[in-house]
Amino acid sequence: TGYTALDYGFVNTASTKSEITYIDGEAGILRYRGYPIDQLADNASFLEVAWLLIYGELPTADELAGFDEKIRRHTLLHEDLKNFFSALPSSAHPMSVLSSATAALSTYYEDGSDPANPEHVETNIIRLLAKLPVIAAYAHKKSIGQAFLYPDNSLSYVENFLRLNFGNMAEPYEINPVMVRALERLLILHEDHEQNASTSTVRLVASTGADQFASISAGIHALSGPLHGGANEAVLKMLGDIRDSGEGVHRFVERVKNKEAGVKLMGFGHRVYKNYDPRAKIVKQSADEVLAALGVNDPLLDIAKELEEIALADEYFQSRNLYPNVDFYTGVIYKAMGFPERVFTVLFAIGRLPGWLAQWREQNLDGQGRIGRPQQLFLGQPERQYPAK
Ligand code: CMC
Repeated sequence: TGYTALDYGFVNTASTKSEITYIDGEAGILRYRGYPIDQLADNASFLEVAWLLIYGELPTADELAGFDEKIRRHTLLHEDLKNFFSALPSSAHPMSVLSSATAALSTYYEDGSDPANPEHVETNIIRLLAKLPVIAAYAHKKSIGQAFLYPDNSLSYVENFLRLNFGNMAEPYEINPVMVRALERLLILHEDHEQNASTSTVRLVASTGADQFASISAGIHALSGPLHGGANEAVLKMLGDIRDSGEGVHRFVERVKNKEAGVKLMGFGHRVYKNYDPRAKIVKQSADEVLAALGVNDPLLDIAKELEEIALADEYFQSRNLYPNVDFYTGVIYKAMGFPERVFTVLFAIGRLPGWLAQWREQNLDGQGRIGRPQQLFLGQPERQYPAK
């Protein structure tokens, strides 16, 4: 008909078909390949869920062992890539460091990154899963001025990641099983979330024929914004500001309701969930358990709980179906583990990586790779003549 429907923010149109993740936003349901998120968070490992997302079925014990083994063998970065970090200021935001280092990583594999070559695609899934946590930990270390560690491939995926973040050159790193399991659960909760902004970015970039490194790097950039993954850092900042200003939770909520410029209840609301985010339910429960197990008593958790209680009882939030989302309580847990606020969104990126890889692969395999090219409604000037001189 030639009619272009205007759909700001893609509220009404599907950009793709997918078999990976199912969300029922009204009911607060999230499933990866049919499996409820709470069952996976309680029972599975991060890599098991990664395999499930990418290949569609839970791995057999042999498949999982092979996958894990291959990832362990690919953790080392090219030594030259370390110099890349020296070129950036130590004040650099770790998310910028992660996205640019991911793009830089691609330069070592230019002969092995053909999106049409299935062997390249599978190898780069392994490379990205193995190397991004190392880069992420280096982004953290760089921001606090500490030396980078080499990965220790005798450790599990999450143990290795924790050691790279919190170990140092002088002492052996002591694995804390409470931290390992808690972080693994949080990462599982983040593994995929269908066509959110960063995943849609990954798919759009991939639709041009760009490789996995370019697509994932773009996805990390998209995730960094405070309305998306950056919300976990923004929540902690908000809680800290409420504590430091002494204004009180009620007063802050009033400012949110009055829509004061730049004041939102961060970690609340979601495009798809019009009910309690099922991930937030699990995270909230973990927050109490993990802080108790780590012996941490953080007043910010009390402020968060009070905020939630006041908001859920308030007509403004009720009438708009605004509930806590996954980012509301994660920051408190990351903080208790010892991660600085600026690293929180990097953790989200490491969690989301398998989902991005699965969505990239699904699009490339099933021939949905037609270039993404949104339309516009043109409202500008009709033809006019350049004035004669
Ligand atoms: N605080 C106060 N008011 C809000 C909030 C909030 N967090 N979220 C939505 N609203 C209001 C909004 O102002 C609008 O009010 P009105 O109808 O009077 O204009 C109404 O609720 C509908 O909101 P919307 O902005 O149209 O919703 P959206 O689907 O476009 O945006 C969102 C979704 C997540 C960007 C938004 O809820 C938000 O900005 N939340 C805070 C940031 C955040 O926590 N983001 C993390 C999202 S979950 C994990 C992830 O994706 O990374």
